[in-house]
Amino acid sequence: MSQPQKIQIFDTTLRDGEQSPGASIAPEKKIIIARQLARLGIDVIEPGFAVSSPGEFAAVQQIARELQQVEIAGFARAVKADIDAAVQATQDAARRRLHLFISSSDIHLNHQLRKSRDEVVQIAREMVAYGKQFVNEIEFSAMDASRSGREFVIELVEAVISEGATIINLPDTLGYAMPNEMASLFRSVRKEARGGDTVRYSAHCHNDLGLAVANSLAAIEAGATQIEVTVNGIGERAGNCSLEELVMAIETRKDALGAETGIRIGEIYETSRIVSRTMNFPIAYNKPIVGRNAFQHESGIHQDGLLKNRSTYEIMDPAAMGISRSMIILGKHSGSHAIKHRLEEYGIETTEEQLKSIYGRFKEVADGQKIVTDDQLIQMAGDLTQTRPDPYALIDLQVHAGTQRARSATTTIRNNERGTDHSYTAIGEGPVEAVIGAISQAIPAEIAFEDLELHSLSTGEGAYGEAVVSIIHSGKRYRGTSIHKDVILASAQAYISACNQAIMTAGRAREEDHAGGAKESRRILR
Ligand code: KIV
Ligand code: ZN
Repeated sequence: MSQPQKIQIFDTTLRDGEQSPGASIAPEKKIIIARQLARLGIDVIEPGFAVSSPGEFAAVQQIARELQQVEIAGFARAVKADIDAAVQATQDAARRRLHLFISSSDIHLNHQLRKSRDEVVQIAREMVAYGKQFVNEIEFSAMDASRSGREFVIELVEAVISEGATIINLPDTLGYAMPNEMASLFRSVRKEARGGDTVRYSAHCHNDLGLAVANSLAAIEAGATQIEVTVNGIGERAGNCSLEELVMAIETRKDALGAETGIRIGEIYETSRIVSRTMNFPIAYNKPIVGRNAFQHESGIHQDGLLKNRSTYEIMDPAAMGISRSMIILGKHSGSHAIKHRLEEYGIETTEEQLKSIYGRFKEVADGQKIVTDDQLIQMAGDLTQTRPDPYALIDLQVHAGTQRARSATTTIRNNERGTDHSYTAIGEGPVEAVIGAISQAIPAEIAFEDLELHSLSTGEGAYGEAVVSIIHSGKRYRGTSIHKDVILASAQAYISACNQAIMTAGRAREEDHAGGAKESRRILR
């Protein structure tokens, strides 16, 4: 069997991805994402457009200095000032390349550049030769290659190869190509351009027709050994080829593609979250791999199959990508088997009678809300036997929000172990900050609030909102979820739920330590 072809992953989240409407990032924050990309194991990073601003130049320089294990691409138009800035900003990189581009389609030449094909060839030649004095590795991109005349792309590529370009990138800039056209473009350039067999090939596909990953895979089949991607597929318009989708397609279908990447797939989810948070760019629920629903199942038939064997309804193991979320969403399509299983995950065992009654209440709630959170389910199970498994419960919440004075919140929290209620007040820049501050006073643990996501579960004024809060306690992340028509209340409940999980986990660890690793105690409802 032949060795799989190694595909280099070129990440342009911080350059092309940043061109996503609404996804900009302060230059000084780019290093946070760059460090995570290095942990993920990308081969090449394009940290920004050095000539565009002093802040951008500094960010490229900082990343080039710090990320010594990754090749750095200095991005430049075919213009001396751009090349100078890119060369200077990447000066201290351990390995670097210059990434130069110019348009090749008649549409761009006539309407934007207002230059003839000969002029474009001449500029490309001169600028590649200019860059080559400073950097040995030159990547040349023929922008809009997929909408350019084939003979002209070949002529341009021949010219830049003769001046020393070492990597040829053929972008589908507008996301217009079909996979067979993309493959054919790569095949003919590789075969017909003089010197075409002396360079490496790269694909850079946009997703306007949802074909960026398919087109990148087609380019691989036609000889490309580098693919340009962005995390979560962010980028201009509908975005770029998504890193996680491409990598997981290669990983999952090695058999069909005969290719591999050096990506550490266990870092995929964390990378996606960091990019989404740092760039304030939400991820669609149904986004492959990293979307909230990507490994969640609501239909009773699917849930039943999964509980018997994961491979019945999943082609990838979410845990391998660092996705720890529960695969089963409890909602109106769930069966009692899934409810029983979820309760058991929390150490709650039920008799058949109890399960029947919990299931009845569950269905009532699920009908109105669509989905039922774990916390609500535990509450239903607890109510049945007058036991309350959570250490803390929210008894009352009052919030004052407005434009004239600080937002304040007063909460009454019950300590279920002691059976006492206490009230706490805090202020914040926003009502949620005030609520979190007030609740935190009741909980005697070092808890770092990490993130709050709010989603609407339906439309209209009476829509239910879902709050998902993540916190960090003793180095571990906990997520609490809650659903309510009042999103401030949902946020408070989700926060308490996450804190309760952290406190219960710490308590269990202490008990196990005490018992010298004795078997985990199970909560039995009687
Ligand atoms: O989409 C595109 O063509 C690009 C190039 C400049 C590489 O981003
Ligand atoms: Zn692009």
